[in-house]
Amino acid sequence: MEVVVVANQKGGVGKSTVACNLAVAFALEGKKVLLVDADTQESSMGFRAVREKDDISAISITKPTIHKDIPSFSDFDVVIVDAGGRDSSVFRSAIMAASYGILIIPTLPSVYDVWATEDTLKVLSDARAFADIPAYLLMNQVIRANIVREAEESLEELAAQYEVEILQTRLFSRVAFRNSVKEGKGVLEMNDEKAKAEMKSLFEEVKGRLLSLVS
Ligand SMILES: Nc1ncnc2c1ncn2[C@@H]1O[C@H](COP(=O)(O)OP(=O)(O)OP(=O)(O)O)[C@@H](O)[C@H]1O
Ligand SMILES: [Mg+2]
Repeated sequence: MEVVVVANQKGGVGKSTVACNLAVAFALEGKKVLLVDADTQESSMGFRAVREKDDISAISITKPTIHKDIPSFSDFDVVIVDAGGRDSSVFRSAIMAASYGILIIPTLPSVYDVWATEDTLKVLSDARAFADIPAYLLMNQVIRANIVREAEESLEELAAQYEVEILQTRLFSRVAFRNSVKEGKGVLEMNDEKAKAEMKSLFEEVKGRLLSLVS
């Protein structure tokens, strides 16, 4: 069983978008996927409800038991956790669950958003006192590559300070991503070739990081 936790205390950075799109990517490869929605807003549960295919299971866990519940999901090939915003015991439990796999922290490409991400990195630091948690920052909703430079510098500083890696893939702001969760689809099932290419790239990076855990 592989575990991917998508978390950032900051709202609206793309946690649900990334979690649901990764779930679809694994499902399209024939993997048995469980989406754990740890957010009381239940975006991922909503995604499951509108999704026509029944290839992805979803459950809502809004109690701080996620890290303890993970072993009981061993029937699944992949467990993806969409962690809700706000620091809470549930959020910390979701971060601890990443010790079974990897943590992805999406962030928006502005200096302010990058600064706001530091709160999540502090929670990660606390959690790392108890377990190894490989963590990766992901730039989401990029508008133009040349205007992210300033944010990127701040992100690199944070990445070095908190020992996390920045993923090579960047997701640009695209209508396909915007619509994917509410339509119950992954961009891999939609008609935007650029969004698809970005998602494939993210998926390959994620699989590479998961593989490196076993070697
Ligand atoms: N790459 C993208 N391109 C365009 N729109 C995006 C992209 N990623 C996310 N969005 C949109 O931005 C909004 C926030 O994304 P999402 O709901 O995935 O974030 P979140 O971190 O889960 O938010 P919350 O903290 O509210 O749970 C949504 O309307 C979503 O459709
Ligand atoms: Mg969400």
